[in-house]
Amino acid sequence: MPSFIYEQEEKIKKIIVGCGYEITNCSLLPSARPDLGQYQFNGVMQLAKKYQKKPQIIAAEIIEKMLDSSDYSEVTVAGPGFINITFSDKVLTDYMNHVHQDINNNIAINKNKKIIIDYGGPNVAKTLHVGHLRSANIGEALKRLARELKCEVISDVHLGDWGRPMGLIILELKKRYPNWVYFVENYQGEYPKECPIKNEDLEKLYPIASSKAKEDEEYLEEAREITTKLQQKEKGYYELWQQIVKISTNSIKEIYAKLNVSFDLWNGESDADKYVPAVIQHLKDQGLVYESQGALIMDVSNPDDNSPMPPLLLVKSNGAISYETTDLATLWERMHDFNPDEIWYVVDKRQALHFEQVFRAAYKSGIVPSNVLLNFIGFGTMNGKDGKPFKTRDGGIMTLSALIEMVKQETIKHLNTNIVDDEREEISNIIAVSALKYADLLPNRTTDYIFDEEKFCDLNGKTGVYLLYSTIRIKSLLNKAKEQGLPIGPIRIIANEYDRNIVLKLLQTPVILNNAYNELSLNEIAEYLYQLTNTYNSFYTANRILTEENKEIQQSWLGLSEVVFKTNELLLKILGINIPKKM
Ligand code: ARG
Repeated sequence: MPSFIYEQEEKIKKIIVGCGYEITNCSLLPSARPDLGQYQFNGVMQLAKKYQKKPQIIAAEIIEKMLDSSDYSEVTVAGPGFINITFSDKVLTDYMNHVHQDINNNIAINKNKKIIIDYGGPNVAKTLHVGHLRSANIGEALKRLARELKCEVISDVHLGDWGRPMGLIILELKKRYPNWVYFVENYQGEYPKECPIKNEDLEKLYPIASSKAKEDEEYLEEAREITTKLQQKEKGYYELWQQIVKISTNSIKEIYAKLNVSFDLWNGESDADKYVPAVIQHLKDQGLVYESQGALIMDVSNPDDNSPMPPLLLVKSNGAISYETTDLATLWERMHDFNPDEIWYVVDKRQALHFEQVFRAAYKSGIVPSNVLLNFIGFGTMNGKDGKPFKTRDGGIMTLSALIEMVKQETIKHLNTNIVDDEREEISNIIAVSALKYADLLPNRTTDYIFDEEKFCDLNGKTGVYLLYSTIRIKSLLNKAKEQGLPIGPIRIIANEYDRNIVLKLLQTPVILNNAYNELSLNEIAEYLYQLTNTYNSFYTANRILTEENKEIQQSWLGLSEVVFKTNELLLKILGINIPKKM
């Protein structure tokens, strides 16, 4: 059974068709004039144009038929032909009970796609920093959303583990520890089982190696050579690389776990490497590539491009393969392993050109058939108060762990003082993550936003902290009701404007989820959570639920409170936010 609003749209569409008007789409919107009705239908003016009739006449015909149904207590026409609809309390409470039985009844959307989602994108041996936050948050939430809408979703972290940064790290290690067996030529013995260096020490090396390479051409050349040898899996380098990937992955997993982010696949760029020769051969066979100054190139421009589209570099003149080629080979692998309907990439929008080139090459060469959707889901940057990408106080790049810790110091202030020790630690972590995630998902995905820890943690603001606090309060109301043996539901009565507003808000849940899926942005869900919570809080302040004497009203209110709690719980779960037991 579809959710209420979608069912009503179908019903009214049938009525309109029954009146003799063709219509493909009947969409009902929450009323802009709540004094005139709860929902409105604005499609009459269009019909009037098409059928050369007065809109008021068409509206009157439709309204007459609608009033045959007990679903509506009032239907009127206003202005140039807006139809205002007020639902009967009976149809609303029946639906609320249906949702009370199972919160999923208020979603009932079947997108039914098989989707691979590529997000996170951390790089081995490089510290996760604030630049990695958004991909993890947005990607995780989109994964959860698509799953709620009945998609089969496979998430892949797509580790950066195969490019020059790996060569640089290994070179720097070689300079420091030339005696390690990994660097001994023709070494025949056993390699150590454990990585000889700790992850935190490893992470310190990359920035050093990277700046050396910028100043020292010879150093850079050596790193290039090591990268090529690694890509050819030369024994010592390859052994060391495997150890590095292992310890680095473990530490990446720990931080993602804090953020409630997890992946089905821990594949990396290196896993696609074995398909590179096949990909290049495939492109060559179709005459799509040419050589230029020792490099292998593919033209990906279209005649109707209105800005120049640079050619795609497949293989560099020194034989190293490019980031583009790695992504093409990954597509080859993904099509082969999973044959998905769609592949989503949640990556900083500054990488748009890279993906445009890769997608064009994939379609042009048939690596990906045209009915498979490749979707670049670019996002904006988290900036500091100066409007530039967020930095530490001394201008350095802030690690993700440090960022979480900083927000935690802010949230801990709001914790009840009787929460102590381990529990205090655990709960402040959950709250800090909620603050960070909510602030990150609230703006439209493509816009930049400014990091402001005080604002993000404001208990009275539009924040994760406010949402958690309010949600826990509903839970504790329900617990008290249970302790007192009060029945929760059924929902039989709408008693006043406060509970009515909650019901009307709840009707929007499936619409909001659907919009979020279509836009691939979480902002509407985040905004809706806030509005629903506010609507509930007004109701909570205005009514004395636990001492209400009319039992039917009390049961209805408790039932409705439970629906709101479960809706919040579901939406927070989609955003990747956990609810602490208390705070
Ligand atoms: N590791 C990359 C980076 O740090 C992001 C990877 C995005 N995904 C992909 N398939 N290219 O920029």
